[in-house]
Amino acid sequence: HRDLLGIAQLQPHEILFLLDEADRWVEHNRAHGRDARLAGLTQINAFFENSTRTLLSFEIAGKRLGADVVNMHAAQSSVKKGETLIDTAITLNAMRADVIVIRHGSSGAVALIADKVDCPVLNAGDGSHEHPTQALLDALTIRRRLGDIANKRIAICGDIMHSRVARSNILALTALAAEVRVIAPPTLMPAGIERMGVTAFTDMDAGLDGCDAVMMLRLQTERMAAGYIPSLREFHALWGLTPKRLERAKPGALVMHPGPMNRGVEITSGLADDRDRSTIAEQVEMGVAVRMACLDVLTRGRR
Ligand code: CP
Repeated sequence: HRDLLGIAQLQPHEILFLLDEADRWVEHNRAHGRDARLAGLTQINAFFENSTRTLLSFEIAGKRLGADVVNMHAAQSSVKKGETLIDTAITLNAMRADVIVIRHGSSGAVALIADKVDCPVLNAGDGSHEHPTQALLDALTIRRRLGDIANKRIAICGDIMHSRVARSNILALTALAAEVRVIAPPTLMPAGIERMGVTAFTDMDAGLDGCDAVMMLRLQTERMAAGYIPSLREFHALWGLTPKRLERAKPGALVMHPGPMNRGVEITSGLADDRDRSTIAEQVEMGVAVRMACLDVLTRGRR
């Protein structure tokens, strides 16, 4: 079987294939279509970290395809009684899951579980490593809005250092030949990020110049040592997206955010709610379609 652990493992044609499949599911969902191709399969969503969008959209995606979907929330599980990650994986495997979706706070934890189970594993976010379905849904959103991804100038802004969304998006968007810029305070910019094929800016206005899409990221304070959390007021003043600052981007540039948002910190409320510019709700809709595509493609060998 094949897993989806990260964008790094995908070739550009495989990314495009998943986007094409997801495109069809968007139309299917809008037409209230029915499909039961995962009927009889058991999907376990094991979430060791909080989630609204990813957990619910994987659950909805599995149910729209007819799977039996069950959710394991670590906070209510025997992880709280000291059970190890590997023993949890062996337990899920013994229940004969057909596909397992995992979110975990540690980078590499999802790969560790994938190594211990006999079914496809999908990474729903592991630490600051990867969040592949988020990057696919972001790419789908951009492609549907702008027609193409190649040669588009896309800025990813904010806490690049701790963001798995940034890493997966950099991998996906550069694979699809976009010009990717990352904009961050010096303390939240990973050293050597240029080796990923991006241009790094610490000055937000310079970085936004001529961009087709601007992707804002939340400060991942849960991954920062207490003494290193930036001042929110200073962060907003220098790296927050405001209507004035957005004037540096192309007219009509897309305003994107994977959620959850911290209004008034990385983005003003007005921009988040701007129905013409903001794709935030559309990204959530694309998320269900992308997850249907991934669940369908990865379980084909079991049906
Ligand atoms: N974008 C994202 O992963 O959101 P959740 O943490 O709510 O799943």
